[in-house]
Amino acid sequence: MPVELNLNYTQNYVRPHELEAVWPQVAAAHNSLHAGTGLGNDFLGWIDLPVHYDKEEFARIKAAAARIKKDCQVLIVIGIGGSYLGARAAIEFIQSPQYNSLPKDTPDIYFAGNSISPTYLNEILRLCEGKDICVNIISKSGTTTEPALAFRVFRELLINKYGPEGAKTRIYCTTDKARGTLKELAAREGYECFVIPDDVGGRFSVLTACGLLPIAAAGCDIDAMMRGAADARSAYSAADMDKNDCYRYAAMRNILYAKGKAVEVLVSYEPAFAMMAEWFKQLFGESEGKDGKGLYPASMIFSTDLHSLGQFVQDGSRVMFETVVDIGTPRADFFIKEDAENFDGINFLSGQNMSIVNDKAKQGTILAHIEGGTPNIVLKIPEMNAYEFGFLVYFFEKACAISGYMLGVNPFDQPGVEAYKRNMFALLGKPGYEEERAALEKKLK
Ligand code: PA5
Repeated sequence: MPVELNLNYTQNYVRPHELEAVWPQVAAAHNSLHAGTGLGNDFLGWIDLPVHYDKEEFARIKAAAARIKKDCQVLIVIGIGGSYLGARAAIEFIQSPQYNSLPKDTPDIYFAGNSISPTYLNEILRLCEGKDICVNIISKSGTTTEPALAFRVFRELLINKYGPEGAKTRIYCTTDKARGTLKELAAREGYECFVIPDDVGGRFSVLTACGLLPIAAAGCDIDAMMRGAADARSAYSAADMDKNDCYRYAAMRNILYAKGKAVEVLVSYEPAFAMMAEWFKQLFGESEGKDGKGLYPASMIFSTDLHSLGQFVQDGSRVMFETVVDIGTPRADFFIKEDAENFDGINFLSGQNMSIVNDKAKQGTILAHIEGGTPNIVLKIPEMNAYEFGFLVYFFEKACAISGYMLGVNPFDQPGVEAYKRNMFALLGKPGYEEERAALEKKLK
């Protein structure tokens, strides 16, 4: 099985009968999810997406990726939240966090529209100077302010560089099939469009065109990715928790939460996993953090964070557990050489593969952390490739849905995200927000 679940390091905190005791809740969550009778049941398209996707559009995505590769040196991917994190996570996981700097025959990819920082935007514009550019604007609603601001800038850049007609052939638009400002503009201008289906929410959309086009443009094998997700769909379809590691993981995190472990830290020993952890944090944070409930999803990359947050995990407030994603085989080996002088005293590691040192660091850390009062769940995956990415995405999506239902929340909405937007619009003086603006400005005085 591509994801091996190990619950051995939770034994001091959770007894086997406790896992059995939540089985009826898991079964109820499974039944609601698969019968489509639970909260947010109009957003369940992700469940069968790995097999029931639009094959004609999939072929068009591959063709567009090939055209992007031919036409440009830089692809600007504009989007935020679910319209950003999955693609970036995939590219770093499957290719490298150094994707842009390493030799390759695919374009550099820069992400824009995920902040409103003028500094960041200016830096991306500088990186585009003298380069051929394409743009993929991604917004399911087609109305989100941050990507809309960035798109305005890059659209103008393309028009100035290639003329209005030339720009049109370099803009790829991923949005709703019928609604939204972006859809209207794309229809008017004749941009090539891809669809985020109505029944797939933003944070569950990485396996739609939302993730697939930039991921394919980065040279990743999206067929293998969908195969991985399809295999995970079959692997985690059983209602029986004994046969379903995804459900056992969901159950365990809920038990730990009930016992006061309010923070789940997703840990990896591979820097290439850092953006995947960001994707995970959005998936679980936006799905579960509501009604005054939910595990706080955090992430750490070890050894890096062992020298910053490690002290806290070992010995600080006992509020967390770790979920360690243990990657079996690194993308590349590195053997440590003997030094004649042994000037640094580390010749005892000579001839050793660096991955073994990383592995021992992991084993030592797990043992130290459980001793210190931090339970560890381990998810072992064989390696970082497109197939594993698809498999892991589905594993976490399904675990998130089951976990959310066990918690009694709607895992598929995000009402809390609207609050800041209303305040921002009011403070910026958007027409229609006059009363709110006056009230907010009074509070700021
Ligand atoms: O998960 C979600 O639904 C959100 O994070 C959205 O993806 C995010 O707000 C961006 O929305 P949109 O794609 O409509 O621009």
